[in-house]
Amino acid sequence: MARVFITGSSDGMGRMAARLLIEQGHGVVLHARNQQRAEQAMAAVPGAETAVIGDLASIAQTRNVADQVNRLGTFDAVIHNAGVGYREPRRLTTEDGLPHLLAVNTLAPYILTALMRRPKRLVYVSSALHKSGDTSLKDLKWEQRAWQGSQAYSDSKLHDVLLGFAVARRWPDVLANALEPGWVATKMGGPGAPDDLDAAHRTQVWLATSEEPAAKVTGEYFYHMRLRQPSPATRNPELQERLLEACKDLCGVELPG
Ligand SMILES: NC(=O)c1ccc[n+]([C@@H]2O[C@H](COP(=O)([O-])OP(=O)(O)OC[C@H]3O[C@@H](n4cnc5c(N)ncnc54)[C@H](OP(=O)(O)O)[C@@H]3O)[C@@H](O)[C@H]2O)c1
Repeated sequence: MARVFITGSSDGMGRMAARLLIEQGHGVVLHARNQQRAEQAMAAVPGAETAVIGDLASIAQTRNVADQVNRLGTFDAVIHNAGVGYREPRRLTTEDGLPHLLAVNTLAPYILTALMRRPKRLVYVSSALHKSGDTSLKDLKWEQRAWQGSQAYSDSKLHDVLLGFAVARRWPDVLANALEPGWVATKMGGPGAPDDLDAAHRTQVWLATSEEPAAKVTGEYFYHMRLRQPSPATRNPELQERLLEACKDLCGVELPG
């Protein structure tokens, strides 16, 4: 049985994935933004080992999440699931002076990947919208353009695939994959979302734990437990490296080679 850490497991697909993992007999460590959400998450996911706490909008708190996880020992898999959606009406600025969406969706998985002890498998939750992401990687801080929440979200989901594929290339001993869960009716997806909510969290669980050969691949992109073609740009090692460099410049953390 595996031991899995899931970011953003106080709600939505992260919480659903945690429940499914426990149902299957795996060990699970949850993550929530603060003490109150951690208590709610622990109550909602009976059987979880514990919950680590930290707001992923803050570089300092994200670093602290990595420390907390490292103190808990080793993990077989980490699911980078936490995220914020495309409806932010203006550029919300974090304590680090960064766009909130960039901090949570792009920098937090980058920092956690870089600072946490390497698990055997890494899963990055992206979105079909990554295909509309800006492959120039220019103006990640949204200082030179008028804010567009949907574009910033698409950009961040492109970054998640680039990060997953960069890790797969750099760390051959780790299985690192990305996925899109479909547009589903979570807090983020909204009540009218058309895709199958019951299928949405299963791919992250499968990639984290399954012994099926189809799940034990690396540098791939999935939808509902099947391979799907990501944006061709995500396969470009030079673009992947540029993202890593940009993340390092923004947060001061280097991804080990
Ligand atoms: N829903 C969709 O249709 C859809 C489609 C494509 C991709 N996705 C991706 O799927 C993933 C999960 O989304 P979801 O639909 O399950 O969303 P959700 O229901 O809104 O859940 C998001 C989770 O992330 C946590 N989170 C957000 N910001 C955080 C922060 N600053 N610090 C710590 N935790 C934070 C939330 O905590 P709180 O509960 O405290 O807010 C919650 O546990 C995301 O990466 C999203 O981009 C979703």
